[in-house]
Amino acid sequence: MLVSAAMDPSSQQFEQRESERASLPAPPEFDAAFRKRLHDLFRWRRDVRRFKRDPLPDGTIERLIDIACLSPSVGLSEPWRFVLVDDADRRTAIRECFEACNKDALQMQEPDRAALYARLKLAGLDDAPVQIAVFADRATAQGSGLGRRTMPQTLDYSVAIAIHTLWLAARAEGLGVGWVSILDPARLTAILDVPEDWIFIGHLCVGYPSAEDDTPALERAGWEHRHAPEGVVIQR
Ligand SMILES: Cc1cc2nc3c(=O)[nH]c(=O)nc-3n(C[C@H](O)[C@H](O)[C@H](O)COP(=O)(O)O)c2cc1C
Repeated sequence: MLVSAAMDPSSQQFEQRESERASLPAPPEFDAAFRKRLHDLFRWRRDVRRFKRDPLPDGTIERLIDIACLSPSVGLSEPWRFVLVDDADRRTAIRECFEACNKDALQMQEPDRAALYARLKLAGLDDAPVQIAVFADRATAQGSGLGRRTMPQTLDYSVAIAIHTLWLAARAEGLGVGWVSILDPARLTAILDVPEDWIFIGHLCVGYPSAEDDTPALERAGWEHRHAPEGVVIQR
């Protein structure tokens, strides 16, 4: 494959570009006060299922997606694909898909958990002003396959990280994100008419949250609770 002079480490152009980089502005200093605020952001990010219907200011979603695109990706493949779902019929079809999958999930619950499951609110599809279906493009040539030969699923991981970046950026703007996975990926691909080799990663509801909380909704509902981090670390 041809490599342009600017990309070829042995070229003069490459050397010149690298020396110009030495004059870049100094990197920002992330001080203790910033780290404290960042920790607040991590602690106060929530999966949101109850939204106000207020629309988002123009440019908000574009800005959040721009930030999501700063995420790491295997081989710099940037495999994320964001589908902004505005069409009413497609939204209805996604809602129906959620209802069907959630009904199946309810039937699979152990008898002692079914009543609680039925009470959980597991999607904000009715009220969130913005819906984004996020896919991983498993066919992308970008990155020339680096890092994914033995682990093609690293493309999907890259997209999950981008969603998390968007999630945090949204929270920093006072917005909530709800990740909906109680869906049939093949149905989503068909409803949204996207290429077959795009892997469905998640459907996001985005909007202003009805309430803020530092505790996950599933914990508040008594479904599950967070465990101490020590329990997930082992030594070898
Ligand atoms: C991959 C993934 C899929 C999820 N799918 C759903 C879902 O379908 N419905 C739902 O209510 N929450 C869903 N969630 C949100 C989790 O339930 C939530 O992150 C968890 O309970 C912790 O709460 P928190 O995000 O508020 O900290 C999903 C989260 C992730 C990371």
